[in-house]
Amino acid sequence: MLETRDLTIRFGGHVAVNSVSCAFAPGTLTAIVGPNGAGKTTYFNLISGQLKASAGTVSLDGHSLSGLSPSARTHAGLGRAFQLTNLFPNLTVLENVRLAVQATRDGAHRRGLNLWSIWSDHKALTERADQILAEVALKSREHATVASLPHGDQRKLEVALLMALEPKVFMFDEPTAGMNAAEAPVILDLIRKLKKDKTKTILLVEHKMDVVRELADRIIVLHNGTLVADGEPAEVIASPVVQEAYLGVSKEAA
Ligand SMILES: Nc1ncnc2c1ncn2[C@@H]1O[C@H](COP(=O)(O)OP(=O)(O)OP(=O)(O)O)[C@@H](O)[C@H]1O
Ligand SMILES: [Mg+2]
Repeated sequence: MLETRDLTIRFGGHVAVNSVSCAFAPGTLTAIVGPNGAGKTTYFNLISGQLKASAGTVSLDGHSLSGLSPSARTHAGLGRAFQLTNLFPNLTVLENVRLAVQATRDGAHRRGLNLWSIWSDHKALTERADQILAEVALKSREHATVASLPHGDQRKLEVALLMALEPKVFMFDEPTAGMNAAEAPVILDLIRKLKKDKTKTILLVEHKMDVVRELADRIIVLHNGTLVADGEPAEVIASPVVQEAYLGVSKEAA
């Protein structure tokens, strides 16, 4: 169980995330919605450790993550789609994914210089990396350098790296933003597959309400950094706060 308690960050006088307390159970997909600037990405950054909270705590399975670095949180099981700045732009797609797979495994380097073991590790790592690339429909680009990839393929690669880490918690922040009509379904299928697993905790920031409606088990709404709604998708979508934020319906009319 991932949990935030009174999680808060202030930038100068502005409270971007305001005392958000929320728990996310394994086997559920929670959509996080809210207008631009509501604090959704900032909330993710506080959970992953990219930003330091002004107050409040983050814990996973009862262990506090507060005060841990982003990489220590990744090690604890938090998976955040990589920013491209985390990649090696001059290595190929396959090499990058293989490195991410390797990061999660105890490889030959821990067992000493045994050539057979290095070769068999390398083979297993490549096989797993290949499998992940097939899942995100990037196999045809495996030998391209990251720097040469078009935008949509870079976004797919970010998801591939997240898969490679095999985290307990998957955090997707507008995963299909900037993707074309052929690319987006690949990523949505992958999220559907993760959901079927029933052991993963999935957090999805998404503006497209049809996607939210289909995938979410639960929706939480952030508004001005505050958690203003939390519940069943149908109920939350019908609530005045969402009607107003997304459909431009005024409070009086709703
Ligand atoms: N590093 C920062 N320094 C100062 N202000 C920040 C910083 N990061 C975010 N903010 C502010 O915090 C607020 C929340 O921003 P955030 O990016 O989390 O919104 P969001 O809900 O993800 O919006 P969008 O839907 O547009 O992605 C905004 O007012 C933003 O300007
Ligand atoms: Mg955002």
